[in-house]
Amino acid sequence: MSVLLNGKELAMEIRLKLKEKVEKEKLSPMLAVILCGDDEASKVYVRNKSKACDEVGIKFEEYLLPNETTQEELLELIDKLNNDEKVDGILLQSPIPAGLNIQEAFARISPEKDVDGFNPYNVGKLTIGEDGFVPCTPYGIMKIFEKYNIDLEGKKAVIVGRSNIVGKPMAQCLLSKNATVTICHSKTKDLKEELKDADVIVAAVGKRAIITADMVKEGAVIIDVGMNRNDEGKLCGDVDFDGVSKKASYITPVPGGVGPMTIAMLMNNVVKAHELRHMKRD
Ligand code: GUN
Repeated sequence: MSVLLNGKELAMEIRLKLKEKVEKEKLSPMLAVILCGDDEASKVYVRNKSKACDEVGIKFEEYLLPNETTQEELLELIDKLNNDEKVDGILLQSPIPAGLNIQEAFARISPEKDVDGFNPYNVGKLTIGEDGFVPCTPYGIMKIFEKYNIDLEGKKAVIVGRSNIVGKPMAQCLLSKNATVTICHSKTKDLKEELKDADVIVAAVGKRAIITADMVKEGAVIIDVGMNRNDEGKLCGDVDFDGVSKKASYITPVPGGVGPMTIAMLMNNVVKAHELRHMKRD
């Protein structure tokens, strides 16, 4: 039986530390979130981010844009927030309505307010190993490895999913810790073959139970980024937890694993942005 990687508990610890820091140093960080369109899951994510901000002492402003928003209007709002002295972090919730160019919008967010780490400048910084803003989900996963003393050096890590939000930045993070990294995706010929020797598996596909016990090595570390619903409407990941947890050495549950860490690292990035903008961070 495997050890549960308790992201919920670690996220609470991180949020508490940030709250104490904000209070003690009398910081006034502010996050502006843009929610464009009416994606139901996004509304839930943004609500959770808002609650976490409240708890940590981060001011939260929400900008709701309708489905019919034009690219110009979206960029205009980003420019306004870039120029607003009070705003430390800008987050454009993904996805946005079809027809809008999200990459252009991410690139428009000032790199110093890019708390998601999606601006090409911060993507580049991560790629060359310089300090910038690291995307919250991979960053949270790295904190889990750190907390549980999971050494990555020389390990074979396989990421399933090549998104700009998780898969690609995850690869950079693992590489920075000297893991040997493979990224699998929808065109990978034989996923089972790629996974069979993996010491670490990060599943970020968005498909329920795509990783099953027969695909993983005894003792592998399993990170499940999936957020799916089963037939009863219950939240579940990309990993068949019941089967895989019998073989894994460590495994993240869904819910209570990676999800809360994503939000905790967003809080971390907003406080960092505030400090850097006010030159208080060492
Ligand atoms: N949609 C799903 N995950 C994320 C995230 O981490 N950031 C943003 N902006 N949108 C998302």
